[in-house]
Amino acid sequence: MSHESGKFTILHLSDVHATAGELLYGQVDGLARLKQVADYAVEAGITPEAVVVTGDLANRGHTNAYPALNAALRELGERVGAPVLTVLGNHDCPEKSRQLDGHTLGHTRVVHVGPVRFVLLDSSTGALDAPQLEWLSESVAEPFGIGTVLALHHAPVPSPLPTLAKLGLRNAAALADAITGSDVRMMLSGHYHHPMAAMFGAVPVFVGPSLAYHQVMNAGPDLVSGHDHAMFSLVHLTAHGVSAAPVGLLATDPLFSISAARPARSEPTTTVTPSSTQPVEP
Ligand SMILES: [Fe+2]
Repeated sequence: MSHESGKFTILHLSDVHATAGELLYGQVDGLARLKQVADYAVEAGITPEAVVVTGDLANRGHTNAYPALNAALRELGERVGAPVLTVLGNHDCPEKSRQLDGHTLGHTRVVHVGPVRFVLLDSSTGALDAPQLEWLSESVAEPFGIGTVLALHHAPVPSPLPTLAKLGLRNAAALADAITGSDVRMMLSGHYHHPMAAMFGAVPVFVGPSLAYHQVMNAGPDLVSGHDHAMFSLVHLTAHGVSAAPVGLLATDPLFSISAARPARSEPTTTVTPSSTQPVEP
């Protein structure tokens, strides 16, 4: 938790779909995109307290990608100076993914990072089984720090897209029961390949966009289609609230750029040119 900003920052990535031997759809290199995220964060001066990757780490059938993926995730964590916390998605192989850091003994765990408790869940089957739900309930029975963040691939809320509307967590009601009365502050999910914010009872759910491709949002009722548009999210947690801001890795050149630097309060008022005093607004 940054004392300067009062914010706990999470770099939320999802749906990397790393491949081995060929690129996804002939052009998407998930491992290269992890490096691009690190480049972006370093260049933008983003210093997250944690990196969370919500599943579909490797594309289905590309189990040979896990060693290189593990190396890429380690490099990302080292470059941004934060632990990398991963959960499995429906594309991931439960056995071969044990090569990943943090997955050797299993795919669920609790990780404390400063004042935040992360509970990493395994929804790779599309649901949370009874033993996992019981473990979850016990894990959040007592409050911790400024709260708990759940990470799971399948959001317990539906996508607005008709083709994805029934692809959320199958037993969302059981998840609600397991965390009733707990200190869960938010859930981070993926799977839909488009960003989305929702409420699950009193808990905010942030569905992160995909690093691999973005859904064509107007593809129609019978078509699933993807743009090559890699994105991730900047998530903030404070003592009083939460937020998530999707960020595109690829962008056109800026339309304008104005310095946001302002004179220090202790400096005397001076006459400056209009261009340097123009406030920066969204
Ligand atoms: Fe995916």
